Amino acid sequence: MGFPKGGSMFKSTMPENGRIVHLQFDGEAITAFDGDNLAAALLRAGKVQFRTAAKNDPRGPYCMMGVCFECLVEIDGRPNQQACQIIVRDGMTIHRQSAPDSAGKASG
Ligand code: FES
Repeated sequence: MGFPKGGSMFKSTMPENGRIVHLQFDGEAITAFDGDNLAAALLRAGKVQFRTAAKNDPRGPYCMMGVCFECLVEIDGRPNQQACQIIVRDGMTIHRQSAPDSAGKASG
């Protein structure tokens, strides 16, 4: 088994006839269904790295219930948003975020 080539290992369980909303993730256009959980929508789009921790260690959603904080992203300029706790909105702009360096500046 393994990851499908060029795709995502996730698929939606929502009805495919839902209204489509448009997002940007690090400048890339992504579509989701209205009412989707943001973390789920990004995972389904094949985006598994949401941020970097110290030493540029990649991080992505783990618990999907607001406990681990591994899913932090910047949304519309606001950092440290838990993607697993947010419902998508048309026009949402999301960026990966980087851990601050020892001087407190984002490293990425
Ligand atoms: S995935 Fe754990 S808090 Fe979001």
